[in-house]
Amino acid sequence: MKIGSVVGKSCVLAGWALLSLGAARVSVAQTTAAGNQPWMNAALDPDARADMMIKEMTLDEKIQLVHGIGWGPLRAGAFVPVADNGGAGFVPGIPRLGLPDINEADSAVGVRMAAKDSRYATLLPSVIGMASSWDPKMGFLYGAVIGRELRDQGYNMSIGGGMDLIREPRNGRNFEYASEDPVLAGTMVGELAMGVQSNQIMGDIKHYVLNDQETGRNSLNAVLEKRAMQETDLLAFQIAIGMAKPAGVMCSYNRVNGDFACENQYVLTDVLKKEWGFKGFVLSDWEATHSTVKAALAGLDQEQPGDGYFGAPLKEAVQDGQVPMARLDDMVHRIVRSMFATGVVDHPPVRRVVDPFKGREDARKIEEESLVLLKNEGGILPLVAGDGKAIVIIGGHADEGVLSGGGSAQVDAPGGRPGGSVWGRPVYFPSSPLQFVTEQAGSGAKVSFDAGTDVAEAAKAAAKAQVAIVFVTQWMSEGMDRPTLSLPDNQDALVEAVAKANPNTVVVLETGGPVSMPWHGRVKGIVEAWFPGIGGGEAIANVLFGRVNASGKLPVTFAVDEAQLPHPTVTGLTATTENNGMNGGGFHGMQSKNFTVDYNVEGMKVGYKWFQVKDETPLFPFGFGLSYTSFAYSGLKVAPGAESVSFEVKNTGARSGDEVAEVYVTLPKSADEPFRKLVGFTRVWVDAGASKTVTVPIQPLYLQVFSTEKNGWERLAGKYGIEVGGSSAELPLKTEVSLTAQ
Ligand code: BGC
Repeated sequence: MKIGSVVGKSCVLAGWALLSLGAARVSVAQTTAAGNQPWMNAALDPDARADMMIKEMTLDEKIQLVHGIGWGPLRAGAFVPVADNGGAGFVPGIPRLGLPDINEADSAVGVRMAAKDSRYATLLPSVIGMASSWDPKMGFLYGAVIGRELRDQGYNMSIGGGMDLIREPRNGRNFEYASEDPVLAGTMVGELAMGVQSNQIMGDIKHYVLNDQETGRNSLNAVLEKRAMQETDLLAFQIAIGMAKPAGVMCSYNRVNGDFACENQYVLTDVLKKEWGFKGFVLSDWEATHSTVKAALAGLDQEQPGDGYFGAPLKEAVQDGQVPMARLDDMVHRIVRSMFATGVVDHPPVRRVVDPFKGREDARKIEEESLVLLKNEGGILPLVAGDGKAIVIIGGHADEGVLSGGGSAQVDAPGGRPGGSVWGRPVYFPSSPLQFVTEQAGSGAKVSFDAGTDVAEAAKAAAKAQVAIVFVTQWMSEGMDRPTLSLPDNQDALVEAVAKANPNTVVVLETGGPVSMPWHGRVKGIVEAWFPGIGGGEAIANVLFGRVNASGKLPVTFAVDEAQLPHPTVTGLTATTENNGMNGGGFHGMQSKNFTVDYNVEGMKVGYKWFQVKDETPLFPFGFGLSYTSFAYSGLKVAPGAESVSFEVKNTGARSGDEVAEVYVTLPKSADEPFRKLVGFTRVWVDAGASKTVTVPIQPLYLQVFSTEKNGWERLAGKYGIEVGGSSAELPLKTEVSLTAQ
């Protein structure tokens, strides 16, 4: 830790030096501006600057900006230009006009591919973990780490920002996404994108929209009625995009109500650009462009990674008038104005070595708030340092490190596989829970390890210890879904056997999303750690030993089993279809099945709303998470017009800690939405025995419904139920207010 803080300090100094370099660069730009490049005047508005520059562009230069150069470093043998930084996407700039290249890097949970001549980046905890903190500050920090390291590596655009709603708990990419609830997901990912852009890096939010499962993602038709779509998946994007104003929005592979997302007039133009006023550019997911004229007219602004549709064919379509020049200018304008607005022209990244110590500390901090304590019978946790107890740690490669998610979100953190990770192969990173638990247990403690590969051996080891901590894992990746909610590789049997052998069993889960836990009644402690990131081993030990109070809350519902879900099986995923496993995310040219995923089954009732309407009790509800202390709620007051609510949170236990307080609203009957929905939350530190009064604002939009007749949002007159508490299933404060139509 000491080394980390020293390195951190020197980097702050280096940061100052870089800032002043940046300032020097602005004045160079301004000098040029005084000459024949007026758009280089940083004092002007980005739209005006873009317009001035576009006037000087040739048709070929415009076309050059609206597509990538091909698969580049992603595919062996593909062309890689000299200026390509080594990321997933590259768009050459126009040096004669002072427009830099765009170097795009995947960065869902950290920068994916180390830039040319760089070595590594920080592996952050999963996005779903970050969202479990319900702490906007952690969302911002998450993005700020990504932005900082993109800059350090010479990238100027993130193509991270996973935002799809967790409708399908078995989706292989849920670890890149935030929540089943649009308000939580939108707020946390909005903060993330703001953090990225605070580094003068172009941010992105993806995959727009309804890319809620991987099976068949390249071809499936996601069907969802307009009102439900507006109030769920679209609302999440609307919130995040409104907050962050990201440079990019990446349209997804799938179809949405018939049309591919990247040529879907309704979602790209009518909603994103017109209703929400998005000023940035829409880039396609990699090979998610399917046409030239249709896509261009529907609102796609940049094809990635190649030029099959937006290269020569688009030029021709513009020349023969099928795509108006004004539309091409709009595409280019959106790209160039985003480059000016985020600062990538005036403050280009200056390469320097990534600071892995600072990154690791930030990752640990985020993970400490991400861990969710799901069960703590008899106060088995926190463990007591120095009590000399024999602890056995079992399974999950906990001796080696922590699991990370795969696909384009795979980060090559220090200590990963030499030469980088391989698609489809799980990677564990060196942040060993065993090491940190051993350190924290103290000198008298006996901490041992059993790999958990032989259930009988593990049970024997458990029987000899006073406490058994079983680490279970569920690897997840882009391009696959899990067919069930069960832990893979016989791990349920492992936990059962250990629990039978040792009454003091604690389970730590490293999963990409919700799993079933048939053994939950037979263990004393359960902690969800998600994919914990490079500071994960230490964060887990800090929470197990109570150096840090547990505070995370679930951003998704954990069902008892698949029968409780709106879709008991993943649509299209069966043992015999071709659209399963890694094939689900296959690329162009692969034989794909065109099937429908009917999201109207649950419609607006995503996640906890479905459970409420069906009167089903989940294994663990949305918003649930325990602490080593307890909190009591009182004194609910609602401000006029329900603009905010305030209440008191009292820490009734013996430890200080953070509480996440949640505010839900049930709309008037006429809304026909018979469920509560999250409309606000806050995370508050309360000292042991103390009380705090908190005020949570409620955005007027969250009290509205989408009217398909009016094609807009409206507040209905009637009685609104307001409930407050620490979990969607336990809301001690309740009141009702009458609101007028609006
Ligand atoms: C993924 C995107 C990613 C892109 C580039 C696609 O397969 O869906 O999330 O940004 O590849 O790597």
